[in-house]
Parts: sequence; structure tokens; C-alpha cells
Amino acid sequence: MRHPGRSLAALTSVVLTMSLAACGGSSLSSSSDGGGADGDGPVSIGLSVPLSGVYASLGEDMTQGFDLYLEEHGGQLGGRDVKVVKADEGEKPDTGVPATTKLVTQDKVSAVVGLVNSATALGLRDTFEGSKVPLVVANAGADGLTTPTSDYIWRTAFTNGGVGGALGAEVADEVDGGSVYLLGSDYAAGRESVGGFKKAFEAAGGKVAGETYTPFGTTSDFQPFLSKVKQSGAKAVYVFYAGAEAVAFVKQFDSFGLSKDVQLYGAGFLTEGGALAAQGASAIGVRTSLHYSDLLDNPVNGEFVKAYAAKYDEPPTTYAVQAYDAAAALDKAIETADSTSGADIAAALADVGEIDSPRGPWSFDEKHDPTQTYYLREVADVDGTLGNTILNPLGEQG
Ligand code: BEZ
Repeated sequence: MRHPGRSLAALTSVVLTMSLAACGGSSLSSSSDGGGADGDGPVSIGLSVPLSGVYASLGEDMTQGFDLYLEEHGGQLGGRDVKVVKADEGEKPDTGVPATTKLVTQDKVSAVVGLVNSATALGLRDTFEGSKVPLVVANAGADGLTTPTSDYIWRTAFTNGGVGGALGAEVADEVDGGSVYLLGSDYAAGRESVGGFKKAFEAAGGKVAGETYTPFGTTSDFQPFLSKVKQSGAKAVYVFYAGAEAVAFVKQFDSFGLSKDVQLYGAGFLTEGGALAAQGASAIGVRTSLHYSDLLDNPVNGEFVKAYAAKYDEPPTTYAVQAYDAAAALDKAIETADSTSGADIAAALADVGEIDSPRGPWSFDEKHDPTQTYYLREVADVDGTLGNTILNPLGEQG
């Protein structure tokens, strides 16, 4: 069960620091090597996720995943007590860039975890490079974050093009000569996700019926776009929407009558977590690609789902896993780093090896993205609750 009140609770904790150390306050001094210097005090880690705007529910899940990891590890990463400094990324770069920059320049954290919105993360690339503080991206999928590769940017999530691309050949096969209409939020994530899908779909012989991008964060009425889909005669649709936009899109796709005749496909964010709970029966039958579902059958996920549900009374999401794994990567890096300076932690991230994750074991590739398996998922009623069932693996991509 989702808790609608929790976003508000999370919002009130913005900029509050959560000290899991024996004593509060930072004994860290600033360093030209980025972020906190060494000493015996807690290591300061920034957590910047949206606590407001269309992606607020994603930020809530990421906070829960990160907090769960810390709780399971005695409030420590790499044997050091942790002081978490939280910031509200908000919806777009105008809020996310200053809030995250403050973590680096004023709070002097040793590393930052988080960032949902690709445009915001891209706007911060130079800040992390210039300050030598590592950013562990726990969601934003923009290609430009890891291409070119930066010593200071690591990602525990996905690339937008990778998630879309994973589905291309599968959909070409399923529509069997029919055409597909493409839709997405009009910013880096929507364009890259649709672009990745289109490239793989066309390479497999698929035909595109039309392509439209909807204004990000301000579109609540999708009817004009759904009319275009209907007029195109497409047999299926591929979309990129997440958070509140995903809820509105899937519900309107169904109420417009399209779900009877047109198969809806998307990047898995379309039916993830709180979005699926709010979509209800309108999401049944929607097919997506993603690297995780809480229904994934492996022992690490079994334990994770149990622990997460016990703490939060709801199943975990991809967003929670990505933040949980960011904490796991920092845990390993801080353990072996020469100091808790940003530069030393960034250097140690290169040697963390395999992360034993609820999504299955994965490692950073040469660009600092996870090498992982994507799955074809379908929304179905599982024992009275809607979930993303796993149909089959779609192969490995960044
Ligand atoms: C992005 O901006 O990269 C993004 C946002 C929400 C879900 C997935 C990707």
C-alpha cells in the first residue's frame, strides 16, 4: 500500500541532516581534493532527489532505498559513520542545480547520490568534475553523463537509450509488420528513450507511424496526442513517461479507448511503483522494459523485498534499488579509499567490482554505467495486487 502522506513528510526533512553517527555535527574540513577531508568524524554524503514536482514519488523511493541500506549496515559506509545531508532536487534544473551545488560547495560532502532528471544531472556535470566530488547517479539516464566518461561520475541506474533500445527488436517481432507511434516527455530523457527504441526497432524492420514530444511537467491532458495516435492507424505505441506524467498518460490512454486495439509499450518507469498503484486496472497488459521488478526471482531480491516491505509497508521499486546499490557501491569504495576526500572515493569507485544487487549481480562498465540484464515486463494481477511480471530477458545493455 502506498502512503500519499509520505511525500509531504519527506519534504519537511529537506536540508535537515540525518546523523547516524554517535555524535552530530561535522568534523570535516574542506579539501582541494573534493569534499570532506579525512579524520575520525562521520563521512558526509549528499542525497539529492526530488521531494516535490512530477518526480516526487521517485525521490521518495530512492530515499527509502538509501536509508534501508544504511539501516542494514549500522549507519556506516566503509566502516565509517555516515552523516546524510538531504536536498530537494525538485522537478527541473532551476531547482535541482542550485540545491545539489550547495551540497558540494557549502555542505562540503564527500560524495553525492541521487538525481532523477537527466537535464538537471547534465547541468551539474561540470560542478562535480571541477570540485572533484563523485556523483553516484541513482536514476538520471542521459547519455551525456557518462559519455565522455568522467572520473567523478558513476551511475547505478541505466541509460535512457539502453532501456528503450532493449525493447526495439521484441516490439518489431510482436507487431509483425504493423506500425508503432512514438511519444515522450520533451527533454533529454524522453528523446533519448524514444531514440534508443526507434533505432533498435527500425534496425529490426519496424515501421514508425509518427513521433511526438509533449511538454515536460506541464502536460496533464494527453487527449490531443492520443487523437494523433488513433488517426495514425498504429498497431502499438512506445512511450517514455514517469511519475505523475505516467499516471495521467496510462489512465487517459485507457479511457480514450485505445487500450482495446493498440498495444501500449514503454520504458519501465511507465508502470513503476506509485505510478502503477495510481493507474490501477488501466495499466493491465502494458508491456515495458527495465532492469528490475520486485517480482524478479533471485535470493538477494527475495531478502530485499522482505526487508523493504517490513520497513515501508509497500514493495520496492527500481528507484529504491538504484539508490540502495549506490549506497552499496560507496560502502565498498569508502572501505578501500585512502581517505574520505572526494578524489580518493572517486578513485576507489573504479575498484568496487561486482555489486550483489536485488536486480542480480552487476559491475560498472568502462563508461561507469552498470552492465545489466533488461527484462520484458507485463502488468498483471498477481494474487490480487498489480505487479510487473517478468516475461523474458531482453539481453544485456548499458
Ligand atoms: C531521466 O530524466 O533520465 C529519467 C527520469 C525519470 C525516470 C527515468 C529517467
